[in-house]
Parts: sequence; C-alpha cells; structure tokens
Amino acid sequence: MQHTTSVIRIENLCKTYPAALVPALDGLSLDVGQAEIFGLLGPNGAGKTTTINVLCGLLVADAGSATVLEMDTNIQKDSIRKRIGVVPQNIALYPNLSGQENIAFIGRLYGIDAIALKKKAAILLEQFGLTPHTHKRVNRYSGGMKRRLNIIASLLHDPEILILDEPTAGVDVQSRALILNFLKQYRALGKTIVYTSHLLEEAEQICDRIAIVDEGKVILQGVPKQLIQNTPDCRRLEDVFLHYTGRSLRD
Ligand SMILES: Nc1ncnc2c1ncn2[C@@H]1O[C@H](COP(=O)(O)OP(=O)(O)O)[C@@H](O)[C@H]1O
Ligand SMILES: [Mg+2]
Repeated sequence: MQHTTSVIRIENLCKTYPAALVPALDGLSLDVGQAEIFGLLGPNGAGKTTTINVLCGLLVADAGSATVLEMDTNIQKDSIRKRIGVVPQNIALYPNLSGQENIAFIGRLYGIDAIALKKKAAILLEQFGLTPHTHKRVNRYSGGMKRRLNIIASLLHDPEILILDEPTAGVDVQSRALILNFLKQYRALGKTIVYTSHLLEEAEQICDRIAIVDEGKVILQGVPKQLIQNTPDCRRLEDVFLHYTGRSLRD
C-alpha cells in the first residue's frame, strides 16, 4: 500500500548503550504511513525495543532524529505521549489489583474523566473478552489475559498511533487471533499501528508494510508481497528474512 502521509519518521538513529561493545542502533531509518499496520521485524537483539523506546521518549539516541506526528521525540515527549499508545514487551500491570482497578489507575494517570473512562473501559473489556474477569486480580489472569489487559491499558486515551512490542509473544492461539483481529479493526478506524514480532507468517498476514531490522539497521523495507516477489527463490516472508539476515543463530 502506497502511503501519502508519514506519521513516524526515523532518520539515521544511532545508540550505543553504556559499556556495550556494539551499537544497538547503527543508522536506523524508516518511515511509517498513516493508517497502516507496520511490522518491525528482526532477530533477537536487532534493536526493535530500543527503537520503540526512542519513539516513546524513554530513551535518547546518540545521533539521528525521530519524529512522531511531526513532533521531535527529544523535545516534545509529553505531547507525543498523549497521542500514542504503547504496549511494552514486558507486562506493565499491578498484579495485586483487579483488571478494573488497573484500568482506573492508568486512566487517572492519563487524566481521563471517570465517567468517560468507565464507558471506554466497558467497551474495551468486552472487545478483548475480559468482561467476565473484570474484578479478578491480575495475578490470577493467564498470560493471554494479561497481554489483552495490557493492550487495553494503552488504548484508554484513544491514541492515533498504537505501538506494540511483541504483543503476540507467548500468548495462546485464541488470544493471538483476537489481538490480530483487533489491530485490523483499529487500522480501519484510520489509526496507525507499529508492532514488533519475530513471527514472520503472522506479519506477512497482517502488515501493510514491514521493515526487517538486523544489527541496528533496516536492511529491507516495503510491502511483504513485493519483497517476496523481488527476492530470488522466495515464496514467503520467512524466506526473504533468512535471505537477508542469514542463518546464523542470534543467542
Ligand atoms: N539497557 C541495555 N543496556 C545494555 N545493552 C542493551 C540494553 N538494552 C538492550 N541492549 C542491547 O542492545 C541490542 C538491541 O536490543 P533490543 O533493542 O532490546 O533488541 P530487540 O528488541 O530487537 O530484541 C542488543 O544487543 C541488546 O543486548
Ligand atoms: Mg525486544
């Protein structure tokens, strides 16, 4: 899909963590168009989470630039945060609070008024199949339920851009199907979705465009179908991925 407006632009981002021997980001560039599902794909340690942390203002890069909705991630962090939702790789919920209490707490952090929050929460809990579990403590939730609640927590303020770090890692088949279906519905509302995964089949299925990241760089970016067509002897995105990232293990 050819996009007209870029809502995220990343140019030549570099980041080396203190004491690290190799850079986590080594001149990474990409752009994400409005209302697309964009997949950030790459092996372990490729730099996906680091990229997301720069986008949401948690980390300052050593060089390069990143803008979200034309705002600089170094300067306009607070304004960016109001308009994006971020689902971190590790579940960020209060285990001793119920689903409802978690939502109430996070909603207050966003300054959402109580009545609007209640309405929004009810819709999202229903959409994510959590209505029967609203009053259960989160430490009694399954992995898939926690992941779904974590996604709800990122949606309470109705963000224009949703960024998810490995949202389908370690969840059961039903949760995964529900999450992917939700992402498509959210896109249909004109929202933009950036998500990381190392599941190529899944990305091929739902992404409008992808970037393959390896060793802190984007080595390939485009529409999955076209990338498959343009790479010799490739029939699936997985073949393209191995063609460009090689077969050596990344432990
Ligand atoms: N806080 C940190 N301190 C030092 N090195 C880190 C830190 N976070 C990530 N790294 C390193 O940076 C590289 C990129 O990591 P990351 O962005 O988490 O990759 P991915 O999300 O693609 O698996 C890896 O080599 C990782 O070990
Ligand atoms: Mg990661």
